[in-house]
Amino acid sequence: MHTRVAIIGAGPAGLLLSQLLHVQGIDCVVLEQRDRAYVEGRVRAGILEQITVDLLERAGAASRLRAEGLRHDGFDLVVDGETFRIALCELTGGAGVVVYGQTEVTRDLIDAGLERGTRILFDAQTVGLHDIDTGAPFVTFKHKGEDQRLACDFIAGCDGFHGVSRSRIPSELGRAFERVYPFGWLGILAEAPPCHDELVYSNHERGFALASMRSRTRSRYYVQCALDERLETWPDERIWDELGVRLGPRAAAGMTRAPAIEKSIAPLRSFVFEPMRHGRLFLAGDAAHIVPPTGAKGLNLAASDVNYLADGLIGFYRRGEAEGLDAYSRKALARVWKAERFSWWFTGLTHRFPDMDPFARRMQLAELDYIRSSRAAQTTLAENYVGLPLG
Ligand code: FAD
Ligand code: PHB
Repeated sequence: MHTRVAIIGAGPAGLLLSQLLHVQGIDCVVLEQRDRAYVEGRVRAGILEQITVDLLERAGAASRLRAEGLRHDGFDLVVDGETFRIALCELTGGAGVVVYGQTEVTRDLIDAGLERGTRILFDAQTVGLHDIDTGAPFVTFKHKGEDQRLACDFIAGCDGFHGVSRSRIPSELGRAFERVYPFGWLGILAEAPPCHDELVYSNHERGFALASMRSRTRSRYYVQCALDERLETWPDERIWDELGVRLGPRAAAGMTRAPAIEKSIAPLRSFVFEPMRHGRLFLAGDAAHIVPPTGAKGLNLAASDVNYLADGLIGFYRRGEAEGLDAYSRKALARVWKAERFSWWFTGLTHRFPDMDPFARRMQLAELDYIRSSRAAQTTLAENYVGLPLG
């Protein structure tokens, strides 16, 4: 087999890249180790920045998003039961975010790809990357019981945090930066109308909580929990009770308790790997960086990486220019680090840390009170939340 761009991983990064290349007539093959149902069923992010929406438009995969996505112009911050609103739209001169689940983004991109004849190979096992520092890299894998070899010009490593691509960059040429947080998020999805028409982020003495949604009839909630917490100790009723306490009386009154249709615990981590390129291999999305979900940036960063990478590849194939590809890692990382900073800051501001002494708690409360009273501080928060420009 031969293609121009071999894409490892059919998450949002790999799928979006495949469709941005497809609309430009650049051939690619996507290799995904899991099956289609598994990939489409992973409940993860839910908030899209406008740049992500625009990229999905550009990829020709936004018709359902346009019809079903919920535009949000603000969100609430609750501090020990008291609420104030961050008016995203007003503070940023018109920007907002769109609520549309990662499951739906993934489904739309897979549907678009298969309809147009993009080769997306699910169940591709033992993917191996070879000769990435030469002009003729190739990928080996097992598919339907047969060993395959895919020759290509470039490899896009879009295989997430636990993928194989990042490890192919020699350790002496790369550097990893990391913060592991001493807590996780317990998330539940329920077929129930949301407790409020916008998201509610809460800093409570007992820990962080978030009320989010997937649609007008489907809610997504999170509570901060210990890292060694077990799901068995969190029956639905305990989660609803805890959400009610942490989110405050207004959200509690609006909450509809329904059985959880998905429940999971995710650890929180900040991670960046530099550089995002080695030879003919380019990393994009979670393969290169992880953010704690507090700022809703993970999926959006995957999209912005792919924007730079697609532009670099289009410049290369359309105009014979290598500049875009050469600038990829630098450009992507400049935006990544700002989202890392925001996600780290917003996590620190809203969560309860096990080693937090009364002074640290007062610092959090003072900063939240400052944000409540300062339009400048709210503008900084809003500008980062809706997403920084691609530059
Ligand atoms: P992924 O979505 O991880 O996709 C990588 C793909 O590569 C996967 O399909 C994987 O199966 C495949 N793959 C891996 N290894 C190989 C291999 N060797 N060969 C072939 N294929 C391979 N972000 C938010 O903004 N809000 C959230 O609430 C949120 N919750 C999250 C919960 C969890 C449990 C996780 C893991 C992430 C969450 N994120 C959240 C982050 C967000 O989902 C990611 O940033 C986003 O999925 C990144 O997309 P990606 O395509 O880079 O990586
Ligand atoms: C979600 O809906 O899953 C979600 C929303 C906002 C966040 C994180 C997750 O900050």
